[in-house]
Amino acid sequence: MCRKIVVTSGKGGVGKTTVTTKLGINLSKMGRKVVLIDGDVGLNNLDVVMGVENKVVYDMCDVLSGKCRIKQALIPDLYEKSLFVLPSAHAYESDDISPQGFRALVDALSEDFDYIIIDCPAGIEGGFHRAVSSATEALVVTTPHISSVRDADKVLSLLSTYNMIDIGLVVNRLRGDLVISGEMMSEGDISRLLRCKPMGVIPEDDLLLQSQADRAGRNSGCSAIAFNLLADNIENGNKRIYDCTARFRGFFSKIKLMMRNKV
Ligand SMILES: Nc1ncnc2c1ncn2[C@@H]1O[C@H](COP(=O)(O)OP(=O)(O)OP(=O)(O)O)[C@@H](O)[C@H]1O
Ligand SMILES: [Mg+2]
Repeated sequence: MCRKIVVTSGKGGVGKTTVTTKLGINLSKMGRKVVLIDGDVGLNNLDVVMGVENKVVYDMCDVLSGKCRIKQALIPDLYEKSLFVLPSAHAYESDDISPQGFRALVDALSEDFDYIIIDCPAGIEGGFHRAVSSATEALVVTTPHISSVRDADKVLSLLSTYNMIDIGLVVNRLRGDLVISGEMMSEGDISRLLRCKPMGVIPEDDLLLQSQADRAGRNSGCSAIAFNLLADNIENGNKRIYDCTARFRGFFSKIKLMMRNKV
């Protein structure tokens, strides 16, 4: 059966699109058939992050207006054969796509895919409702910063009014050195505060900023293992989560941290 997962956050810029793309890539590498849907109508950028923006011929508005069939609007990924992107529309306002229309697209795709991953827009307005009401599972992305955690709390209470089968937390941009020195909340602290189970932890990774280089298969930095564990946890439910503090716990790392804290 197809799993329909919305990646949401409340606060903008915390990593929804990054989590959507990396999750899709990793699940397709595991042999699953995956489609990523851009839920951000008007401010869409999933196609850009996936590096397929030049291949967009039709978008979801064209499908809904009957200009093309849904399969014609799907863009195959450049690297993974079982990964596709359904682009959103730049030239439209967010209200131009109704929740019912969006849901019809998701339901039509669910016959052909193992996973539908919806990249939710920031905020809790109409676009949020449209994306969330089409999904049956949610991943709430937060960074360890208090404003992001507060927005995640608001989103979690809104999600409890939808009929979700499962809701999990992804803590993004965690820094193990700051967690050890007590300057940043750990994923355990955040998960207890929000009363939501952690599905994944992604470390701060400068190489994520070079997403195109990453797509070409070059070294994808310390977050690569973390995204792989997140996908594995979602697919197999084995609850293994990346430990951001591990590489700061060795003898020399401790000395380095002590020196830094003295400066
Ligand atoms: N773990 C990370 N380490 C370093 N940079 C990251 C990490 N996760 C995301 N980023 C960077 O943060 C920026 C925002 O990420 P992204 O676009 O995924 O956020 P978003 O929640 O989708 O934003 P929006 O709400 O605007 O749609 C991007 O430049 C991305 O490369
Ligand atoms: Mg985004």
